[in-house]
Amino acid sequence: MTAKIISGTEIAAQIREELKTAVEELKQRHGVMPGLVTILAGDNPASVSYVTAKQKTAHELGFHSVQDSQPGDISQEKLLCLIEGYNRDPSIHGILVQLPLPGHIDESAVLNAIDPDKDVDGFHPVNVGRLMIGGDQVKFPPCTPAGIQELIVRSGFETSGAEVVVVGRSNIVGKPIANMLLQKARGANATVTVVHTRTKEMERHCRRADILIVAAGVPGLVKPEWIKPGACVIDVGVNRVGEKISEKTGKKIAILKGDVDFEAAREIAGAITPVPGGVGPMTITMLMKNTVRAAQIACG
Ligand code: GUN
Repeated sequence: MTAKIISGTEIAAQIREELKTAVEELKQRHGVMPGLVTILAGDNPASVSYVTAKQKTAHELGFHSVQDSQPGDISQEKLLCLIEGYNRDPSIHGILVQLPLPGHIDESAVLNAIDPDKDVDGFHPVNVGRLMIGGDQVKFPPCTPAGIQELIVRSGFETSGAEVVVVGRSNIVGKPIANMLLQKARGANATVTVVHTRTKEMERHCRRADILIVAAGVPGLVKPEWIKPGACVIDVGVNRVGEKISEKTGKKIAILKGDVDFEAAREIAGAITPVPGGVGPMTITMLMKNTVRAAQIACG
C-alpha cells in the first residue's frame, strides 16, 4: 500500500480562505483588523524563520501585524514591560513570544505575563486549564495540536473510539494533543496513549495505533515496523539535518527531516504527513485562527 499524503499546505490554504471571510466581516461590522504582535528575543535561525513566516501570513490575511525583534541580551524586566504594553494596546488582539527564550529569561514568568485573552499560543496556565476542562471553556487551543486535529478530521479519519498513540510529552505538542483527542467532542473521543523517553517497548504501543502522532524531535525515530498497516501517521518533527541551496531562490536553506522514516513508512501507512508541508503550515494557520477569534471576542 502507498499512503495518501496529507498535505498541510493544501488544508492550511482552505482554512486561510475561511479566515479571509472572517477578517472581512470584522472590518465591515466593527471596523477592526485582527492585530498580532510576534516578539522575538535574539537571532536563533529557526525562530527567525518561524516568526518571519507568521508575520508574512498575518500580512497576507489583512491583519495589523507587528514584528518586535529584541536583542538576545534583553533583560527579563524589559521583556515583561513590553508585554504589559501590548496587553494594554487595544489594536493588538494576539501576543506571541517566540520560544525558546534566551537562557537568562524565566520562560514561565514571561508566558504568565501575557493577558490570557490575548494568549493566541494558548500557553498561559489559564488557557492550559481551559483546554483540560474542554468544551466551551476553550478559547485558544495551542496551534500545533489544533493543526494536527484539523489534519486528521479534514482528511476523513475517524477519531471516535480510535486508538491514538502520541510519541512525546512536551507542553507544546504531546500533552495538549493527548488531552484534546480524549475530550468528549467532535474530532476527539479517542483512546489515547502517550509514550515518551522512559516508556518500555515504545514500538509495541505504536503498532497498536490507528492514529500515530509523533513529536519526539528525533529524526527518523519511527521505523516502518512500528506502524500498523493503514494507520494515519502525523509527523510533527522538524529536524534541521543540514543545509542546501534552494532551487527557487538560490539562497541557503535548511534540510528538514521528520521524526518518521517517511519513504519506508509511506509503504505501510494509510495516510502520512510530509516534512516539510505537513504540520508546519497548519501551526501558522491555527495561530491566525486564534488571532481572529481573539479579535472577535474583543468585539463582543
Ligand atoms: N517555538 C516552537 N513552537 C512554538 C510555538 O508554537 N509557539 C511559540 N511561541 N514558540 C514556539
